[in-house]
Amino acid sequence: MTDFSELKNADIATIVLHPNIANRKEAGETKSLNERPVASELQEIVGLASAIDLRVDLSEIINLSKVNTANFFGSGTREKLKSLIEVGSITLAVVNTQLSAIQQRNLERFWQCKVIDRTGLIIEIFGARARTHEGGLQVELAALSFQRSRLVRSWTHLERQRGGGGFLGGPGERQIELDRRQLDNAIIQLQKQLKKVRNTRQLHRNARKRVPYPIVALVGYTNAGKSTLFNKLSGANVMSQDMLFATLDPTMRQIALPSGKTIILSDTVGFISNLPTHLIEAFKSTLEEVQSADLILHVRDISHADSNTQRTDVLSVLSDLDITTHKERFGLIEVLNKIDLLEDKCISSMLSENDQKNVKISAITGRGCTELLKMIDNILSQNERIHLFEVSLSDGAAVAWLHNKGTVKSIKTDDSKTSLEVALSEENANRFFKKFNMY
Ligand code: GTP
Repeated sequence: MTDFSELKNADIATIVLHPNIANRKEAGETKSLNERPVASELQEIVGLASAIDLRVDLSEIINLSKVNTANFFGSGTREKLKSLIEVGSITLAVVNTQLSAIQQRNLERFWQCKVIDRTGLIIEIFGARARTHEGGLQVELAALSFQRSRLVRSWTHLERQRGGGGFLGGPGERQIELDRRQLDNAIIQLQKQLKKVRNTRQLHRNARKRVPYPIVALVGYTNAGKSTLFNKLSGANVMSQDMLFATLDPTMRQIALPSGKTIILSDTVGFISNLPTHLIEAFKSTLEEVQSADLILHVRDISHADSNTQRTDVLSVLSDLDITTHKERFGLIEVLNKIDLLEDKCISSMLSENDQKNVKISAITGRGCTELLKMIDNILSQNERIHLFEVSLSDGAAVAWLHNKGTVKSIKTDDSKTSLEVALSEENANRFFKKFNMY
């Protein structure tokens, strides 16, 4: 079998197979969030493979009436695919399902090429996209748990990071050398490290709470345009590519709204359907910031054929995490992105038939972004009422604080004091009185 350790992903000739199984339960598939048309499922897995630059030479939908326990595919299908693999000099087969360790090994022997399943592929992608220490640890933990469950090596990137020979086997397809106990120890160590990193992050979050700018979190299906919008609104230069999962770790930026109010904008990892079980925890922890957010922006690629299914997937994950039912939250805005790709007359007919607040934008051209910022401003001002403050002339800090946290409606200065009319939430008004000893 090919030695993959020296190969770049772009040089790996790949076949992507999407098994269309009559009875999915038999195949032991993980929770399916939503049924998609088969062709679009194939398109999605091809997109995922391309996300880590694999060179997809062939892609096929394989209809199966039942799953073969030892080999996953029946003998006829295996033979047919073997010829395709030989003729196309294919070195990697990605199978869009959850394979057992035995099925994976048997297929590799028969086809004489490396085989990975959906979980293996997504772990690869998460590994390649992790941008913070915590993200890296989460992915490594997911990878080790997966490895422990099957004692088979199956990922490139993480192995390379650890200085290993590469997932795609390595010379002679060496057997996994770590036994379960070693894996368990490694998992415990990682969990300890992760706990430390999380505690540090919690400290940072608590520190931020003391400077209580509202947190506005961007969520959405992978490739919806979250990073592009994040960049547009914040002027930050966060990685944005025509790739899935460009953001694994939450990224935060401070931005000013039209009223002058400051918010913290938080970008998050893209959602994906049928997330393998091993990755659900890793994925959830990337959503911690969303759980504590004051307002959620659900960014949707309104030009995508599966836009409505993607919307349902995202809302279902949010509700699994109890995110939409948070009672102290201002709610959710649907941001209908990529309108530059649609005819104007299509846009109104594509608006979702729900009572969600929504705004149409193009994160690329900037159209609609001012409206979006105004909408955020209005929503965050909902709990505000006008307060009258009088502060001494020398107290510049108090005036600056009011400008930051509220909307200053009027300001008058006489010889001894500054009088301000400020729209402020009750919570912030109390904070102000306490902070500046005005009781
Ligand atoms: P993940 O990190 O995978 O979750 O993706 P994301 O939601 O952050 O998407 P990203 O911002 O990386 O954008 C994905 C692709 O869509 C990129 O090629 C963007 O250039 C493109 N894109 C984003 N917004 C728009 C838009 O308004 N119009 C058009 N035409 N393309 C857009």
